[in-house]
Amino acid sequence: MSFAALFALVSLVAVARAAPTTTCSDGTVVSNSVCCDFIPLAQDLQDTIFMNDCGEDAHEAIRLTFHDAVAISRSLGPAAGGGADGSMLLFPTVEPNFSANNGISDSVNNLIPFMAKHPTISAGDLVQFAGTVALSNCPGAPQLAFLAGRPNQTIAAIDGLIPEPQDSVTKILERFDDAGGFTPFEVVSLLASHSIARADKVDETIDAAPFDSTPFTFDTQVFLEVLLKGTGFPGTDNNTGEVASPLPLTSGNDTGELRLQSDFALARDGRTACFWQGFVNKQDFMAQSFKSAMEKLAVLGHNPASMIDCSDVVPVPKPAVNNPASFPASTSPDDLELSCFLEPFPSLSVDPGATQTLIPHCSSGGEDCPSVQFAGPA
Ligand code: HEM
Ligand SMILES: *[C@@H]1O[C@H](CO)[C@@H](O)[C@H](O)[C@H]1NC(C)=O
Ligand SMILES: *[C@@H]1O[C@H](CO)[C@@H](O)[C@H](O)[C@H]1NC(C)=O
Ligand SMILES: *[C@@H]1O[C@H](CO)[C@@H](O)[C@H](O)[C@H]1NC(C)=O
Ligand SMILES: *[C@@H]1O[C@H](CO)[C@@H](O)[C@H](O)[C@H]1NC(C)=O
Repeated sequence: MSFAALFALVSLVAVARAAPTTTCSDGTVVSNSVCCDFIPLAQDLQDTIFMNDCGEDAHEAIRLTFHDAVAISRSLGPAAGGGADGSMLLFPTVEPNFSANNGISDSVNNLIPFMAKHPTISAGDLVQFAGTVALSNCPGAPQLAFLAGRPNQTIAAIDGLIPEPQDSVTKILERFDDAGGFTPFEVVSLLASHSIARADKVDETIDAAPFDSTPFTFDTQVFLEVLLKGTGFPGTDNNTGEVASPLPLTSGNDTGELRLQSDFALARDGRTACFWQGFVNKQDFMAQSFKSAMEKLAVLGHNPASMIDCSDVVPVPKPAVNNPASFPASTSPDDLELSCFLEPFPSLSVDPGATQTLIPHCSSGGEDCPSVQFAGPA
């Protein structure tokens, strides 16, 4: 065979193997026609629930991806739960009722109507896809891959598989390992999610207490603030799973920062402290590490090789806004409680001002929810 003929043959094989494409009715080109149905779903989720905002409903949908997926056990076997299977939506009176899922029912109730409105999409795909759309509203978040094809038939998971903030580091690391072989580094990576988080249920006397001073942006601030010395509580003292936070003051309707005991412990434990500290002011490294770990979480219970890659319909996230991490006003490097000394701690600025002004109360997730720092006096 001549070189030209060989070249032609090789080219033909290359064309035959090139990924086929389909043009969806809105003109988007996707790699598989199955992916087209997720385009109107994304729009509907944005218009009905998230409003293109990284507010409360987006936060809750992201938390739901975790609570649905982690309910699986390598040691207990398939009867314990199916992982990222939508069981939270398919059995809404079972799993949301477990105490570790306290607060999850808002996101479950938000998503249930979408099963009937988008009947070609399974409950498991809906939960994980909604998480990718929610995350895209959070400035600085990574664009997650999305694989479709979780079956709609599954079982309700048993109680006891969701980590709780009062759990020890050993128990948490063992649970993540049992769920899907997550390493301590991956566990810490997943906790970048707590940069866009607030608690309603840990202290029932206060609403939406943020875990860091920038709860509407996906940034490294939470990894810094959890390392600071705790000084008090935003509401009542010492609730189960809560420890003192560095920014506890509440003013007007705005709630001070709340710290989970689990975040505190993971930030200081010998098995995880260097990973925790290593994310401070490393936006890209944090976002990439979170992306890898979330993509592993999203397919727990499934064989990714037999799923369809619909990453091309995941919205592109908003760009990062808070660049360097910084010490909130009234805190300083003296407040750091470091237990990893492998690398020097980054040199960060201290926000001006001696007093806290607190984040606006944004539980409705409206456009008046800026990504403010705890700043100095107005
Ligand atoms: C050690 C493991 C974890 C523990 C103990 C834990 C615990 C908690 C707790 C207690 C809350 C507050 C719930 C409330 O009172 O409203 C919360 C919120 C949240 N968690 Fe986690 N979490 C863990 C891991 C994760 C992971 C892996 C994700 C990843 C998706 C995640 C995402 C979130 C989000 C987005 C919120 C905020 C929800 C909202 O603002 O409404 N968490 N977590
Ligand atoms: C679960 O449901 C039972 C019965 O409806 C209720 O009494 C209990 O308080 C619920 N538990 C949680 C954690 O929601
Ligand atoms: C999945 O099950 C729910 C609840 O029965 C149903 O509403 C939905 O249409 C089903 N989706 C698919 C793709 O079968
Ligand atoms: C909270 O609990 C810690 C640890 O048990 C204890 O040292 C502290 O005094 C408690 N704080 C309050 C205000 O009860
Ligand atoms: C607190 O909320 C109430 C009721 O929504 C409102 O009337 C009041 O102005 C708010 N106060 C502050 C300081 O924002």
